[in-house]
Amino acid sequence: MSDDLMPFLACPLCKGSLKRVGVNQMECLSCKATYPVDDGIPILLPPQLEEFKILEAKFHSNNADYFAERAHRFSYRVSRYHDDYLVCFGNYQEGAVVLVVGGGGGLEACRLKNMGITVIESDVAVGMVKRARRRAFDNGQNAHTVFVVCDAEQLPCPDNSLDAVLIVAALHHLPSPGSFFAAANRALKPGGQLVIGFEPNRWPYYTVMPVMRFLSRMLHPNRNINPGETSIGDMETKGFAEADFEHFLRAEGLKKVSLQRIWYLGGFVHYVVLYINSKRPAERMIDLPITLQRALVAFDDFLSRVPLLRKFCWHWTLVAQRS
Ligand SMILES: C[S@@+](CC[C@H](N)C(=O)[O-])C[C@H]1O[C@@H](n2cnc3c(N)ncnc32)[C@H](O)[C@@H]1O
Ligand SMILES: [Zn+2]
Repeated sequence: MSDDLMPFLACPLCKGSLKRVGVNQMECLSCKATYPVDDGIPILLPPQLEEFKILEAKFHSNNADYFAERAHRFSYRVSRYHDDYLVCFGNYQEGAVVLVVGGGGGLEACRLKNMGITVIESDVAVGMVKRARRRAFDNGQNAHTVFVVCDAEQLPCPDNSLDAVLIVAALHHLPSPGSFFAAANRALKPGGQLVIGFEPNRWPYYTVMPVMRFLSRMLHPNRNINPGETSIGDMETKGFAEADFEHFLRAEGLKKVSLQRIWYLGGFVHYVVLYINSKRPAERMIDLPITLQRALVAFDDFLSRVPLLRKFCWHWTLVAQRS
């Protein structure tokens, strides 16, 4: 990371400025806390990180290489909705700064870089940040990107410094999502955007998922879930109801721009395909033909306009703005 990108980062504890101390360390000029630098990546985590987050970081570091493929991020039924929220950044000026939180293997960061945006790509899992850096390097996009390990609830950026914060499929991995809203609100410039993509709705956690778990237990009575097999965030989350988002926004005085409902039949089909593929080696995963996926997306777009039924989306995308 070049020195001209240092002003984008701050101490996660006191938000003081950071300075380098040799190649393997950074120090906060205000509170004197020190942070290691692993192979050029600042690890800006507070010293007492909760066990929950340590487990999340371990799980995602161990699965960084094939995570995007396993989650079918390149399938049309998924990528189509990612394209939707990237539209939010369409008219950003060159030099605008976007922090990607829980960015995983860096797919979002690559798309933003293509739009001329300066990206701070972050994740709590160092393996994911390294995967994102490799992806950027392979695409010739390493310039003007900051790669950093940090916790979504304690963002290492100065107050009022960011044009946008983007978090995709990671809010439900946090023990205290409200703290993320507070941290993002603090770091955004006035008028800056908070974009939250692909967060699960609540209803499947009380209906479809218990039924699936019951069926799975009937089919495999002796099978114990190995702690390395799934992330603690995915195990513990109960998704978000619309009222949860309203509550988080109100608590921070953020203005709602849009709350999009995504995935109906498509969500169900997606999880069935994911389940089948979880039993297959990575190189033999199956997927639906593209025409069927397009038909699913079109059908879901129709369902999203049907009164009452529209409430039963599997996921949300929220766009908000700091006043
Ligand atoms: C389901 S993945 C999504 C990755 C990526 N945004 C995507 O859409 O492909 C969730 C990500 O959240 C990260 N994560 C979990 N807890 C976090 C935390 N407390 N702070 C920052 N990132 C976190 C995980 O390491 C993982 O990379
Ligand atoms: Zn400090």
